Amino acid sequence: MSKSSSSREATLIRGDGIGPEITQATLQVLEALGMQFEWDEQFGGMAAVEKAGTPLPNATLDSIRRTKLCLKGPLTTPVGGGYRSVNVALRQEFDLYANVRPTKTIVPGGRYEHVDLVIIRENTEGLYVGLDHTFKIGGDRRAMAQAMSIVTREGSERIARYAFEYAKTHGRKKVTIVHKANILKATSGLFLEVARRVAEQYAGTIASDDKIVDNTAMQLVIKPEQFDVIVTTNLFGDILSDEAAGLIGGLGLAPGANIGTHAAIFEPVHGSAPDIAGKGIANPSAQMLAAAMMLDHIGELEAGKRLRCAIEAAIVTDKVRTPDLGGRVATAEFAHAVVKRIRA
Ligand code: NAI
Ligand code: MG
Repeated sequence: MSKSSSSREATLIRGDGIGPEITQATLQVLEALGMQFEWDEQFGGMAAVEKAGTPLPNATLDSIRRTKLCLKGPLTTPVGGGYRSVNVALRQEFDLYANVRPTKTIVPGGRYEHVDLVIIRENTEGLYVGLDHTFKIGGDRRAMAQAMSIVTREGSERIARYAFEYAKTHGRKKVTIVHKANILKATSGLFLEVARRVAEQYAGTIASDDKIVDNTAMQLVIKPEQFDVIVTTNLFGDILSDEAAGLIGGLGLAPGANIGTHAAIFEPVHGSAPDIAGKGIANPSAQMLAAAMMLDHIGELEAGKRLRCAIEAAIVTDKVRTPDLGGRVATAEFAHAVVKRIRA
């Protein structure tokens, strides 16, 4: 294979709904940055069902196994019945145990001016393990339902350690452990116990406290500036990260990284947004910021920083904004504005 020294192979999944639109915009800005990726394009979700008859083809798994690096758009998951979430399947297949979701105020004049927090969500355990069943009682096939949450000492230990190490390497000061150990004494209790023990090992370097999840949800709305790094279990992290995105202007600005020992997948926090798909008005910033996290991950820190600055300049200084941010420009126009900033 002929490869220039600067080109890096990575898997590309454009995704469903607004996925192809925001991914196209993201590829344009990566190109403007001069980042040479050798994309291996693969499919997942609805697009894969249409193309290959399955939401998660083996070719997609093989590609990520080989490249260990993937930029991914959102994938549609049917609600209620239908196939299981491909996003969850990918996280479990590659043991991408840490879901890192930074939330930072970009647009001035919003509800909150100084939000700058990172939610680190355990990504492989909890209520997401798929042990979710209905039971038949009498003539009713779905009379009762039961879900099982799995929390392990090992899983809690590694995510807590990841959060504290992340805090250390990113100049963060405090890690808040979020739980519901007052009610879920076994599962959430184990997570809290293990995370507290890890916190002790960082005493003097990284401060730590813990909070119950419902109080955390309220505190996030009242005073989000009090949070720095939050570490929590799978479902709580899912809910709190959408809430956090809402504090800074919505899902269009919220990126996420799924990190494991052997692979990493970068994607927006949001889903396929079927309500605006195909209209060309989606905000591609979350996907672009996910690409910036991917650049950081492969050591291209300067390029990651340039991309973040260009996005911020386009939104804040040039006031080029998609409808979700109160503006009127289309996805493609926004991409153009970011490219212009990169080239400036
Ligand atoms: P969603 O995140 O797709 O949309 C929620 C709301 O935010 C919608 O009003 C949408 O228009 C808006 N929105 C989201 N991204 C936006 C963007 N970039 N620019 C402007 N507005 C944006 O959540 P929803 O509707 O609950 O889920 C739709 C589908 O996405 C479902 O099938 C769900 O399972 C899937 N999903 C996939 C995820 C992934 O691939 N990691 C994550 C979350 C949901
Ligand atoms: Mg979610």
